[in-house]
Amino acid sequence: MKRRILIVDDEEIFLVQLKMALKGMGLEISTARNGTDALHKLEQKDFNIVLTDLKMPGMDGLQLLENIRKSYPHIYVVIVTAYGEIPQVVQAMRLGAYDFIQKPFDINLLELSLKKILQTHALMEENVSLRREVEERYDFHQIVGKNHRMKRVYELITLAAGSDTTTLIRGETGTGKELVAKAIHYHSPRKKKPLITVNCVAIPETLLESELFGHEKGAFTGAHNRKIGSFELADQGTLFLDEIGDCPLPLQGKLLRFLQEKEIRRVGGNRIINIDARVISATNQNLEEWVKQGKFREDLYYRINVLSIHLPPLRERLDDIPFLASHFLKKYGDLFGKGVKDVSPEALNSLFQYHWPGNIRELENVIEKSVVTEKGATIQRFDLSSISEASPFSRQTNLPLPLDTGMPFREMKEGLIHAWESEYLKASLSKNRGNITQAARQSGLNYKTFYEKLVKYGLERKEFL
Ligand SMILES: Nc1ncnc2c1ncn2[C@@H]1O[C@H](COP(=O)(O)OP(=O)(O)OP(=O)(O)O)[C@@H](O)[C@H]1O
Ligand SMILES: [Mg+2]
Repeated sequence: MKRRILIVDDEEIFLVQLKMALKGMGLEISTARNGTDALHKLEQKDFNIVLTDLKMPGMDGLQLLENIRKSYPHIYVVIVTAYGEIPQVVQAMRLGAYDFIQKPFDINLLELSLKKILQTHALMEENVSLRREVEERYDFHQIVGKNHRMKRVYELITLAAGSDTTTLIRGETGTGKELVAKAIHYHSPRKKKPLITVNCVAIPETLLESELFGHEKGAFTGAHNRKIGSFELADQGTLFLDEIGDCPLPLQGKLLRFLQEKEIRRVGGNRIINIDARVISATNQNLEEWVKQGKFREDLYYRINVLSIHLPPLRERLDDIPFLASHFLKKYGDLFGKGVKDVSPEALNSLFQYHWPGNIRELENVIEKSVVTEKGATIQRFDLSSISEASPFSRQTNLPLPLDTGMPFREMKEGLIHAWESEYLKASLSKNRGNITQAARQSGLNYKTFYEKLVKYGLERKEFL
């Protein structure tokens, strides 16, 4: 069956352009000139995707999106925006848009976005029972959340579990990347075989190669015995490469070789060993930027990124807080044998006020602490004192924001970020008296990233001793 897409824009030229561009995708294309017209068309026919401009006279893209979410929640909405409409885009994503494309649009990006939707569709049709599971449960294999963006995550996990595709999981620290990697493995046909995790940042660079590929006896000083590496251990199973962004460049070439040839060689060995391992990787780094800076190989980037799953930060899915809170309340209530069953409305409310830079891990820690200290059955208040001190976002900030709209948006944003990062690093180093390890830990960055930022901003630890 052909999928149907409705393109909505008030400019005829744009409608024509898009129609031409999407011709090859095998979609049945209809068009509408404004929001009202679009709703009318939606009433008459069943559509799968709506691609709409944001700015239109009468009912604009946001209002149309709201209407669609209410009446046709199964339709995927992709927003087309003009440069600089960031607040509207943020709002659209909150309202449930699937994706957004900037004008003048890059047709490849648009195709990619639509292809992902079509793939998900196909899978969902194939797998009706899983689909029911996705729709009905608020949690998905221990991953809690019913925000619409989490539902997309569940769909993608299902897709990844069924397809053996090399998958990249992205998201800030504490958003559940490892949890997702596990969910994929344990729902894939490889579930009875091992899931081996290697954290590329936790293992010193010099040891990482032999950790991954193993070594032969005598391969280097200290190699007294043969070592079997993670790739071999993961044979027929899954290898989870955590923090792949931090994998050193020389090793990146070797990873690429595995992904292309499915074979490895132990350090100091000549024999080529064939391995059947599925690779899932995760990162909280901006890999695209790293590719640009030459720190991450572009060819490897494409190889690991065949299917990507993006986990939203907690601040963009605050509606999941009650579900997460009750999940952790039960978990720690049971673990510590405490009868804490509930959270008072005031206490719950305080959780919504906070910005959660450490995401779900941070929420979990806060609840764990409260369960331990609570004497009654209901948590009356959370101890967010340490948090509110650390969070400038929960209060009014006094950062000076020079708003010169005569300057290009990007330039202005980068300038501000630059200034802010450098101030942050200085404050963090002086608080920790030049101790980089401690400062990095406190800031939630890994040592390497923190150190590289210091170099970038020309800061030296000795100035802060
Ligand atoms: N959606 C969720 N539902 C329930 N628990 C979650 C969810 N997301 C994360 N957690 C819990 O939060 C903690 C952090 O998750 P996880 O280790 O998977 O995050 P991560 O993205 O890998 O973080 P990092 O980048 O710091 O390694 C874990 O204890 C995990 O069980
Ligand atoms: Mg992790």
